[in-house]
Amino acid sequence: MDYKKYISEKIKLDGVTQEEVYATIALPPNSEMGDYALPCFKFAKILRKSPISIAEELKNAYQTDGVVSEVSAVNGYLNFKVNKSGLAEGVIGRILKEGDRYGSSDTGVGKTICIDYSSVNIAKPFHIGHLSTTVIGGALYKIYKFLGYNVVGINHLGDYGTQFGKLISAYKRWGVREEVEKGGIHAINDLYVRFNNEADEAMQEEARENFRLIENGDKEANALFDWFKSLTLNYVKSIYDKLNITFDSYAGERFYTDKMQPVIDELREKNLLKESEGAQIVDLEPYGMPPCLILRSDGASLYATRDLAAALYRKKTYDFYKCLYVVAYQQNLHFKQIFKVLELMGKDWAKDLVHVAYGMVSLEDGAMSTRKGKVVWLEDVISKCIEKAYAVIDEKNPELENKKQTAETVGLGAVIFSALYNNKIKDIVFSYDKVLSFEGETSVYVQYTCARANSVLLKSGNLTFDYGNYAPNAQESEVVKELAAFPDALLNAAEKYEPSYVARYAVNLAQKYNKFYIDCKILTAEGDAKAFRLALTKATLQTLKNALSVLGIGVPEKM
Ligand code: ARG
Repeated sequence: MDYKKYISEKIKLDGVTQEEVYATIALPPNSEMGDYALPCFKFAKILRKSPISIAEELKNAYQTDGVVSEVSAVNGYLNFKVNKSGLAEGVIGRILKEGDRYGSSDTGVGKTICIDYSSVNIAKPFHIGHLSTTVIGGALYKIYKFLGYNVVGINHLGDYGTQFGKLISAYKRWGVREEVEKGGIHAINDLYVRFNNEADEAMQEEARENFRLIENGDKEANALFDWFKSLTLNYVKSIYDKLNITFDSYAGERFYTDKMQPVIDELREKNLLKESEGAQIVDLEPYGMPPCLILRSDGASLYATRDLAAALYRKKTYDFYKCLYVVAYQQNLHFKQIFKVLELMGKDWAKDLVHVAYGMVSLEDGAMSTRKGKVVWLEDVISKCIEKAYAVIDEKNPELENKKQTAETVGLGAVIFSALYNNKIKDIVFSYDKVLSFEGETSVYVQYTCARANSVLLKSGNLTFDYGNYAPNAQESEVVKELAAFPDALLNAAEKYEPSYVARYAVNLAQKYNKFYIDCKILTAEGDAKAFRLALTKATLQTLKNALSVLGIGVPEKM
């Protein structure tokens, strides 16, 4: 049973919807006060009453029953105590029944969400700076799917621009086919870096000419371009596989080559295009922004032009409910401009475009720069994290079978979780020791809790989970309430585009379970208490697995 729903349905407030009441009910920080609480502060303005008197009036009107046994009003909060065995039975029963679907819902049915994420640049390094967009986008993808949405994952490839002209020049000068084939993206990157270091004006001109050749459909230039593209994609796909990341479309910037002219025509028709120093722009001064550049004075299109074409294409193709762009906050202005231009074009759906911005990741030694050649490849961070995870596991549990596979699950989880645990807009400093700590707020801690729960269940043998009318104690009730909060964590994450809600939820649940594990004996308990504790253990394991799974993180059986 949904206790929040049950409680909210009995609360009537003029001018406040039932949904809003429902959404406002939360778990109080101090469970002595109650199991659920309704903070009345935000209703004060609408009702023109103090939160204290609102809570007081609601308390007087509320009829307690077998489900909600006690209601109190304290400092503007309305607190509820619920029948613990009923709560436990409802939640645990539901989790054991729904299994890996627990937390899923049909809120999104009939709605399509496009997520533009990872969006790598062809022939450029896939570096630590791409971690966040990849795993935040990947987590949102899975969360929305779990909530019933139709999700379209789009990798808006950076495959357009003069750098490909440079690359062709560099390859023709210094490249050896077999070496590039073997070295893949690293070899391509070396060529590119060398070109940037050595090119004089004549070589730059040659590179521009090579780019024009690609544009004009020259066979040889396009064959080289396609080759560079496939080498890059094979490489990034091997990393996506490890991180559990998938895409439904790889339509990148080049895909929009023939879709920009209609946008330019429409802008002109709507009198939005202006000439400025030979270039074509949309003036955004009235909105406090610099102009959005549409065509350079030499007629070339820009990043923004392709993004406008892409937005129109996505609307037409997917008829999205929302289209998210998981891109670093450095591009805040770019997206504000694009969204504004679409709004000025009269696209009422411009309001459904969302820039999901996130902060920067750097390493402890300060490294991350993409200055010529000095790049921290994501691949290297992943390998190193797996290696270190192996060392940690080997030290803790040298007898463990499958150490290699476990280290892989743990190491990958740690890399993913590091970019999902904090509020996404924060800059983060990646530390191997921190992300691999068994004690911190880490995926390792959550995975370890799962292994612990799993071992309890294995040792217990035959499980019946028949615990009669067992009344849970305080620690047990804490776990039960946290278990019941999982669906909300997912809904909140989806609403705020913030997978960190789910990551934090997993750590909270693990902490509460561990407190219970330390305070209450499980295997040596008897009768209903033992059956209940085993059921609680099983429900916790399932919920932690579900939470990690939507983040793209696996759970080893043993650790
Ligand atoms: N490739 C771009 C970059 O690395 C990100 C593209 C984001 N998506 C978009 N539709 N602009 O900066």
